Amino acid sequence: MEDQCFQDYDIALEIKNEDDIAISRQVVREFAQELNFSMGDIIKIATVVSELARNIYTYAKEGYIYIRKKEGLTENVVGIEILAYDNGPGIKNLDQVIGKHIYYERNLKLGLAGIRSLVDRFYVESQVGKGTVIKVEKRKVNLNEL
Ligand SMILES: Nc1ncnc2c1ncn2[C@@H]1O[C@H](COP(=O)(O)OP(=O)(O)OP(=O)(O)O)[C@@H](O)[C@H]1O
Ligand SMILES: [Mg+2]
Repeated sequence: MEDQCFQDYDIALEIKNEDDIAISRQVVREFAQELNFSMGDIIKIATVVSELARNIYTYAKEGYIYIRKKEGLTENVVGIEILAYDNGPGIKNLDQVIGKHIYYERNLKLGLAGIRSLVDRFYVESQVGKGTVIKVEKRKVNLNEL
């Protein structure tokens, strides 16, 4: 995949072992708690990260999850940005995959379509034989500062 600038992220997590899925879930949960996201949003953010980490572990074998706080979007709006990166096999039939699971969310497994429905921004770039980059953002309005 093309070079990306990862230095600006607050947290970098290597996904290599199955345990790293649960670790990434816990780390992003704490990060979202510090940013005062609601409990509902924290669960969504943690779910998104564990789904992305599980895809990396399952299909690419290894990769990274980067997490950062995003400010200055609009006044009083704070975001959390998550970037999943791997140099694995890439996603074939990306268009179909994005629309696949949302109609039958089974076993609380959401897939990429479900992930997309939980966040405010969703970006995916995948090249077969090269890898996958998925960037998502969840935002919140800081009510106590209005
Ligand atoms: N990082 C990745 N690298 C390569 N292929 C991927 C990656 N992530 C997803 N895919 C491909 O996209 C398909 C859809 O992924 P998605 O997460 O939506 O569903 P799933 O993993 O098949 O099932 P679920 O997540 O519901 O258990 C996968 O079956 C896999 O072929
Ligand atoms: Mg999956």
